[in-house]
Amino acid sequence: MGKLLALALLGILAALVGERLLAFRHRIGASRELKVKRLPNCHLIKGIEFGSEDIDILPNGLAFISSGLKYPGLQSFAPDKRGEILLMDLNEENPRPVELRISRGFDLASFNPHGISLYIDEDDTVYLFVVNHPQIKTTVELFKFMEDDNSLVHLKTIKHELLSSVNDIVAVGPDSFYATNDYYFTEANLKTLEMFLGLTWTNIVYYSPKEVREVAGGLYSANGINISPDGKYVYVADIMDHSIHVFEKHANLSLSRLKVFQSDTLIDNISVDPYTGDIWVGCHPNGMKLIFYDPENLPGSEVLRIQDILSEKPTVTQVYIDDGSLIQGSSSAAVYNGHLLIGTVFHRALHCVLDSSSGKGQSNVS
Ligand SMILES: *[C@@H]1O[C@H](CO)[C@@H](O)[C@H](O)[C@H]1NC(C)=O
Ligand SMILES: *[C@@H]1O[C@H](CO)[C@@H](O)[C@H](O)[C@H]1NC(C)=O
Repeated sequence: MGKLLALALLGILAALVGERLLAFRHRIGASRELKVKRLPNCHLIKGIEFGSEDIDILPNGLAFISSGLKYPGLQSFAPDKRGEILLMDLNEENPRPVELRISRGFDLASFNPHGISLYIDEDDTVYLFVVNHPQIKTTVELFKFMEDDNSLVHLKTIKHELLSSVNDIVAVGPDSFYATNDYYFTEANLKTLEMFLGLTWTNIVYYSPKEVREVAGGLYSANGINISPDGKYVYVADIMDHSIHVFEKHANLSLSRLKVFQSDTLIDNISVDPYTGDIWVGCHPNGMKLIFYDPENLPGSEVLRIQDILSEKPTVTQVYIDDGSLIQGSSSAAVYNGHLLIGTVFHRALHCVLDSSSGKGQSNVS
């Protein structure tokens, strides 16, 4: 090969790497400046120190929080502590989280909970779906919640080849759900490479005992997933694309993409106000600081409320921004009757009481 040709090829390669690097810096939000915007009535929740990855709240105000995720490439302040599911009753004067007891026979030692989702049956039985990563593999654990003694009865462990590396789930029946999944890479370094190259190799899988199938694909990094109160629309956060994909859910459970809502922050978990339908998201304003954790340069937190996502001009309110001095790496934001809970990937959790101007909406039942 001629020297000139080799040089030209080298030049093209360098340009490609440069282009990927720039695109990656943009996708990971490396250059955003933060202006702190705190809320007046917030306090850190006692007893949550090591993450509050996902939060789901029942219509009666019982909040379920998964805590203690250990994941390759993510910071953990307690690498030897097993994961747990916490319960907090938001109707109490001073709500405090308590750990839910899990029935015997379930392997608690390797419990590594990630995304969670609640489902209420016609007879008011409450099911809790938990994405679990024992030994960094993926299973989905199905529990029944026993309110009389704050415990979880383990019903079954779900594994499937299409559920190879699940992030989050939303339940659509007592034993069926949609899951966001990375169908190619389960190994941490390869996942990072996948993100760096900007490959769209994550998808959405529908699971029921009778049928498992991919229902959507082509996302950079499908993360949080949730459903509208009327069950007609499914929302999926594509964290590296700074976007939320809105899907219409058909009677045959297929999804078709209606629109992509674009923002300038890394949207992680999605929760939906059951009364107003407003979407609340926990976001990472700077993903670089989250992945390359540095105590001298902390990852910040951001909460957005999105109203009328289906309209031409959705209303987006930046509800909360912190530079990491109070809470680091917000990954979820969930509301109930004027309460806002902000969860984080590996840090603490914040409980805020909203005033009527900051999004109480019609959920303010008197
Ligand atoms: C919530 O955030 C954590 C942290 O990024 C993420 O790993 C997890 O998948 C998210 N859970 C959901 C519900 O998407
Ligand atoms: C499901 O229903 C939708 C809308 O009616 C239709 O377009 C789609 O082809 C159906 N998909 C399957 C797998 O039957």
